[in-house]
Amino acid sequence: MAELIKELMPQHVAVIMDGNGRWAKRRGVPRVAGHRAGMESMKKIVDHSDKLGIKYLTVYAFSTENWKRSMEEVSGIFKLLVTFVNRDLRELIDNNVRVRILGDYSTIPEDSRRALEKTLRDTEKNDGLQFNIALNYGARDEILRSVRGIADRVKAGELEPGEITEETIAEGLWTGSTFADCPDPELIIRTSGEERLSNFLLWQGAYSEFVFHDALWPDFKPEDFEDCIAEYQSRDRRFGGRK
Ligand code: IPE
Ligand code: IPE
Ligand code: MG
Repeated sequence: MAELIKELMPQHVAVIMDGNGRWAKRRGVPRVAGHRAGMESMKKIVDHSDKLGIKYLTVYAFSTENWKRSMEEVSGIFKLLVTFVNRDLRELIDNNVRVRILGDYSTIPEDSRRALEKTLRDTEKNDGLQFNIALNYGARDEILRSVRGIADRVKAGELEPGEITEETIAEGLWTGSTFADCPDPELIIRTSGEERLSNFLLWQGAYSEFVFHDALWPDFKPEDFEDCIAEYQSRDRRFGGRK
């Protein structure tokens, strides 16, 4: 297992949990079974992040493009998410985890929405790990919403175009101060060997370190997570400057 340097622990880790479908295919089981196994992986990574002292964990659970999949798969994913929050709510509360949603979840099935809202309310006062679930999330959609909000304020005479700053844009994102309020992720992990962002955290990831791991998400273990963090800790972050 990797030796981690406590002082270099990232505050915010974001994960593109990919490979559930391929995991299921290899076993000759339905895709939804892959998503179920993926939920168990997610649970372990939430627990482990908390143990490592990470402050914010963001997981990409469902993208604005994932609606293109079959209704069976889509509703299966939402049902599993509800199973997860219902089953583990008590534990999340006990572990002082605060759950937030990044994305417009108003369009997901009613029962799933209610269960998620209960989780948000019940964990609202917790101040341990903040666990952000990116659900019906798309980075372009998020930036578009922020820009529209700014345009409305300009139109209403509340803001001059020259007063718009990077912070104004960032505040209008799901991760902005009005909702989930978290710093940019230092580290973005993607599993399953794919090396792309798939519309995840385009703005916030401007200076994130990327670690691509070959394990399919249901096979991704806390040890693998630590390896990714160790890889991050070995990187030289320059932010455009020089030593
Ligand atoms: C990631 O696994 C989970 C979601 C996108 C909801 P996939 O379902 O994309 O798995 P692969 O990429 O088909 O293996
Ligand atoms: C990204 O994975 C979305 C999630 C992990 C929720 P996809 O599997 O949907 O992305 P592509 O289609 O391979 O780019
Ligand atoms: Mg995929």
